[in-house]
Amino acid sequence: MINIEELARFCKENGFVYQNSEIYGSAAGFWDFGPLGVELKNNIKSNWWKTFVHSREDVVGIDGSIITDKKVWEASGHTTSFVDAILECKKCKTKVRADILLEEKLKRDVTGLTLDEINYLISEHKVKCPKCNGDFEKAKEFNLMFKTNIGPVEGNIAYLRPETAQIIFTNFKLVQENSRLKLPFGIAQIGKAFRNEISPRDFLFRCREFEQMEMEFFARNDKINDCPLLDKFLDFKLNLVFADGKELREISVKDFINANITSKWHIYWIVQAYKWFLDLGIKQENLRVRQHKKNELAHYATACFDIEYRFPFGWKEIHGSADRTQYDLKQHIKYSKKNLSVYDEELKTKIIPYVVAEPSQGVERAFLAFLFDAYNYDKKRNNVVLKLHPALAPIKVAVFPLLSNKPKLLEEAKKVFEMLKTNFNCFFDISGSIGRRYARQDETGTPYCITIDFDTLKDKEVTIRNRDDVKQIRVKIKDLKEILCKLLNQEIKFEKAGKLV
Ligand code: GAP
Repeated sequence: MINIEELARFCKENGFVYQNSEIYGSAAGFWDFGPLGVELKNNIKSNWWKTFVHSREDVVGIDGSIITDKKVWEASGHTTSFVDAILECKKCKTKVRADILLEEKLKRDVTGLTLDEINYLISEHKVKCPKCNGDFEKAKEFNLMFKTNIGPVEGNIAYLRPETAQIIFTNFKLVQENSRLKLPFGIAQIGKAFRNEISPRDFLFRCREFEQMEMEFFARNDKINDCPLLDKFLDFKLNLVFADGKELREISVKDFINANITSKWHIYWIVQAYKWFLDLGIKQENLRVRQHKKNELAHYATACFDIEYRFPFGWKEIHGSADRTQYDLKQHIKYSKKNLSVYDEELKTKIIPYVVAEPSQGVERAFLAFLFDAYNYDKKRNNVVLKLHPALAPIKVAVFPLLSNKPKLLEEAKKVFEMLKTNFNCFFDISGSIGRRYARQDETGTPYCITIDFDTLKDKEVTIRNRDDVKQIRVKIKDLKEILCKLLNQEIKFEKAGKLV
């Protein structure tokens, strides 16, 4: 596996990701997506939406505002609790995130430490400023929310949302009524989130501006284990690390339920998120679920599980799934003094729904995991082959005339390209040798390349080349669209789609 700096370089050179306003040497933690990056990112988001919203009858979506009144964040607890411990050097004034520095120095997990515990470890282990070796001031809390002011009147404070979730809670009642939803149901959202991270690092892994794909799934609080949908997955296996630190082990959903560490609905959503990654090609050995320890739980959660990916810099969270209880709705009822309860026909009374699971997925971390998992250097071909799932590949099909200086080939190839581009994101390439053109598409993950040669002019057949094993088949131009559709949807095997050549 390449390291994170190499991946960042690859992303820049191939038009996936650039440092934000690099020509001015911009601030850390902000990234821009180039021509291929925006396609990959959009494909990730649309696949998530298709899987978790469109394919379901129990989930609807919203798209909320980014700038949100401070009252929302007071109610949710973010103004007081959304903090990291910060250390400031007495000498050079460098500021660092305390837990990250301690973890690097002590080579052990330090999640959930109080400020006193941090200060004790700093003095006990004589931890100094990494820049000038100076001593630190006492650790302080630093709130991660970006503050802004609405309108010309000073003091009209609002925040850029640090999670999309709260906008789901504040709209909960309207969405439930408009969509006539009955418990259990979910509300999903994809959108930007902002965190003023003390130490943005590891390329896209920890940014200050990023996107989340989140869902709040609500149930009756006495029915959090009433999840018939889970029965279908009882034998499904996942890698799990328990909070007590026991070794990673493969566990069936049946055993996960029997471990009695969270509700069935919560397990159901963890499994759906884990499966989403597997279905999009992530290797099972690079994924695991980790139960949060009590002292690392967010202020709103009673149980939380992360899905982690095995990055070159270690196992790291790419997805969080918390049991948020009735915390948020109760807080918003208290602060807004509005009634956010729903009528339950069975109980014949109004109840406050319970958030059994909040599957929360960062787009950038998914983007990173998909790229790392797909990245291969093929020694035989002598080039990178990005084996992205076809649903994620930025370009689905590339079309080449075998030789670019033959007008008849060019004309036929252009016709094929014009026909395909209405269905797929296609790329037309005439520059360089055919080998070089194949290599360029391998590097950017294009699953299929179509070549128009002299035989095409006679038999109206083209060659399709498969990215992953360079096998080639011949198919009729009139059947090409349908065959490509089936190949991209993985409905037929490549060898069965045409005549092998
Ligand atoms: N609403 C719950 C919530 O926001 P979280 O664990 O703080 O929970 C959820 O964040 C996901 O958002 C993470 O699993 C990660 O994928 C993504 N995420 C969080 N902070 C991020 C950052 N600074 N940069 C990139 N992605 C981030």
